[in-house]
Amino acid sequence: MSKKVLVLAGDGIGPEIVAEAVKVLKALQDQGAIDIVLEEGLVGGAAYDACGDPLPEETLAAAKSADAVLLGAVGGPKWEPLPIAKRPEKGLLGLRSGLGLFANLRPAVLYPQLIDASTLKPEVVSGLDLMIVRELTGDIYFGQPRGVETLPSGERRGVNTMVYTESEIERILRVAFELARKRRHRLCSVDKANVLECTELWREVATRLSADYPDVELSHMYVDNAAMQLVRAPKQFDVMVTGNLFGDILSDCAAMLTGSIGMLPSASLNERGQGMYEPIHGSAPDIAGRGVANPIATILSVAMMLRHSLAAPDAASCVETAVARVLDEGLRTADIMTPGMRQVGTAEMGDAIVAALGQSD
Ligand code: NAD
Ligand code: IPM
Ligand code: MN
Repeated sequence: MSKKVLVLAGDGIGPEIVAEAVKVLKALQDQGAIDIVLEEGLVGGAAYDACGDPLPEETLAAAKSADAVLLGAVGGPKWEPLPIAKRPEKGLLGLRSGLGLFANLRPAVLYPQLIDASTLKPEVVSGLDLMIVRELTGDIYFGQPRGVETLPSGERRGVNTMVYTESEIERILRVAFELARKRRHRLCSVDKANVLECTELWREVATRLSADYPDVELSHMYVDNAAMQLVRAPKQFDVMVTGNLFGDILSDCAAMLTGSIGMLPSASLNERGQGMYEPIHGSAPDIAGRGVANPIATILSVAMMLRHSLAAPDAASCVETAVARVLDEGLRTADIMTPGMRQVGTAEMGDAIVAALGQSD
């Protein structure tokens, strides 16, 4: 039976990069590698402009009934004056919580062809293959109380709350332990247990669970040190697991190890095997509409979709191989451009990856 993929392009460069990822899905469909039905929907600023809501009911309903969602990016300066509840970002957060997508996998892998594109020394990043597991439906992003209130003195106070229940911590830790088990058997849990009780509990749960995974070596690291270690010696890490906010920040940091944030895909999974797939970067308003954005993070997100939600691991490997092949050929978008390579735009990069998909080994 066909699987349903909901495509939510979003804002800024979202439609540009998603168009290239959809080309890849359609090419795989034409080759008979997958059997999918594509549907489109509105989210973010585009949805707000169309109907005054960054997550229209029909979008959430379509996402719930889909096997997988492909998302571009949301947000931009145009919508910044709106109250938080109407912001494009709220649409994305509503999808994550509405679908229960608690497990966000953000792999940071350096393609050897891009070793000179990283701002770090080659010996620091060569061979990098790191997996960040970010909890995605809890923490200060969703904790109550929140808001801006006026005190009796007339002064205003802004409040957000970091919260994790034991069961929320346990289920994300189990995802991370299982992943580490399939990789190099090392898990680093990142917290701020020296200051925040919420993450003290996190550390306690991680330590307790490690008894179930004797084959995985668990370590703990404070988030400030982890940010420094990611830049100092990133290859010390195999799997990192952390909360929503720390994971957001650390994954942008890890992105630069791979040459560009335009290279980092993600999968957000729930307990029912549904997933949403998106690049970790945003809508890049500074380059939107110019056809220069790197579509590779989105195309690699399609590979993650093929593997995790469409039961098509061979097609996933084909996409990853096609990306490597195009990089071998020297094609580069502006963000990963280095001397001697050929600079191309978003569509040319997408077309080249599609063409490489069709090549036999
Ligand atoms: P951003 O990730 O959009 O951009 C940061 C920098 O990286 C910019 O210089 C941008 O040009 C560059 N960049 C990002 N993606 C690129 C790509 N594919 N190719 C080449 N260069 C790329 O972060 P920001 O500027 O802080 O945020 C812009 C907007 O995006 C904000 O409204 C923010 O809330 C939103 N945002 C959305 C998501 C999402 O939808 N998942 C993620 C992050 C930020
Ligand atoms: C990301 C983004 C989002 C986040 C924003 C846009 C809500 O930065 O996907 O990394 O903070 O999770
Ligand atoms: Mn982010």
